[in-house]
Amino acid sequence: MRKKLVAGNWKMNTDLASAETLVREIVGALKSATPKATVVLCPPFIALERMHQLIHGTALHIGAQNLHFENDGAFTGEISATMLKSVGCEYVIIGHSERRQFFGETEYTVNRRLLHAIKNNLRPIVCVGETLEHREEGATFNVVRRQLTGAFYNVEEAAMNSVVIAYEPVWAIGTGKTATPEQAQEVHESIRSLMSGLYSRDIADALPILYGGSVKADNAATIFSQPDVDGGLIGGASLKAKEFCAIVNAC
Ligand code: PGA
Repeated sequence: MRKKLVAGNWKMNTDLASAETLVREIVGALKSATPKATVVLCPPFIALERMHQLIHGTALHIGAQNLHFENDGAFTGEISATMLKSVGCEYVIIGHSERRQFFGETEYTVNRRLLHAIKNNLRPIVCVGETLEHREEGATFNVVRRQLTGAFYNVEEAAMNSVVIAYEPVWAIGTGKTATPEQAQEVHESIRSLMSGLYSRDIADALPILYGGSVKADNAATIFSQPDVDGGLIGGASLKAKEFCAIVNAC
């Protein structure tokens, strides 16, 4: 049985004060019963250290939204794995579609970031997903396959027990249009089968595959109940403590 995982991607939202308020609300709301799912909060970089202090003693984990693939040097504006680890980060989102769309992220850079995260013992959440155009052309599986084979180039089998994949159809992100549970299941199943081919059946069976794209409290349970959906990567709804905790409790 794979344990469910719910990660909140706060994107470029909250300042230090509002991040602190939000995490306090989430900690408070989840205090009464330990969640069945692993819960990861991915705030902006500036809030990581404070959040790490605030989640101390809880079952929550902290993740970053990106990382650079070198550890130090002349890379103005970038942030490295060692920096993230020094403020208590355990997870890192890699290859989010907004990074691919707006910041020139490619399969090659996703792969380099993934290898770097693994080398530094950060748990990667690798995002893949097709655009509406791809889906309408019937190219969903080809796109996802290309993204995954690119991302996992040279990633060794031994590293796979720390990896999480997130399937996020671009047309469903922030649009209020969620993939149907059947659409999500179909792609998740094909991702698991692809990873089984790249690695092994055992590795694929143990791999958490999250769904992301307009997950809300009222649709989480049906999406999460699909056999190959192991939780969610939550954007907009992770900025409201009550809504986010309801999604966590839908697991
Ligand atoms: P959304 O974002 O939940 O706001 O659609 C998901 C994501 O981008 O990870």
